[in-house]
Amino acid sequence: MTYPSTSGTPLLVTGGTGTLGRHVVPLLRAAGHEVRVLTRHPRPDADGVTHVTGDLLTGEGVEAAVAGAHTVLHLAGGPKGDDVATRALVGAARGADVRHLVYISVVGADRVPLAWLRTKLESERAVADSGIPWTALVRPYLALHGRRRRPHLPVRIPGKAGRAYREGANLTLEGAATGRLTWEEFLAERVAEKATEAPARS
Ligand SMILES: NC(=O)c1ccc[n+]([C@@H]2O[C@H](COP(=O)([O-])OP(=O)(O)OC[C@H]3O[C@@H](n4cnc5c(N)ncnc54)[C@H](OP(=O)(O)O)[C@@H]3O)[C@@H](O)[C@H]2O)c1
Repeated sequence: MTYPSTSGTPLLVTGGTGTLGRHVVPLLRAAGHEVRVLTRHPRPDADGVTHVTGDLLTGEGVEAAVAGAHTVLHLAGGPKGDDVATRALVGAARGADVRHLVYISVVGADRVPLAWLRTKLESERAVADSGIPWTALVRPYLALHGRRRRPHLPVRIPGKAGRAYREGANLTLEGAATGRLTWEEFLAERVAEKATEAPARS
């Protein structure tokens, strides 16, 4: 099932050139989506994937990147300033016709008192307060690999907490909510529910 009103309009992926993005962009293409990637470095367009040069920290090129995009997958991130970057993206998305914002956060953003994680939490809040329908994913690493692996962290965390992170202690599936439906199945259910809710016409 394809979401009906979005065909022919691009889906913007920030961070589409990064570790996560390099997995996600081909999956979106395989699902038939036209993809636009925001990157700080000019890159050649490829089949169904266009690139817009811009920088979320300076705001350069961000409006052009979101213009006409129905959905934004915000995967861009770095060691500093993710909150600033996310606010710039959200501001531009609010001024455009974006209908869904997807943000990749980090597990523990609301619990671990690290400056970097605070920027993730602030980013989650900016997305949630945007007024645009949104989704935040907090365990993308598990979603990609499906099992424990040593994570790459953009900042060095000292002491026991750092050791636990490096050993992947935060990546347990115990107690984690795991999706059982595909997005298509979810939408199909919603459409069926709406159809039964609709009043009979005379
Ligand atoms: N990898 C994981 O397992 C994992 C797990 C949990 C959460 N996350 C989060 O997911 C996000 C992506 O992670 P990653 O591992 O894919 O990172 P990554 O490999 O370091 O890639 C970073 C991406 O962000 C883009 N980017 C950085 N600063 C930018 C800016 N100022 N403006 C525009 N684009 C910018 C880069 O694009 P260009 O270099 O092309 O400009 C690149 O595509 C991060 O927020 C990270 O914290 C990742």
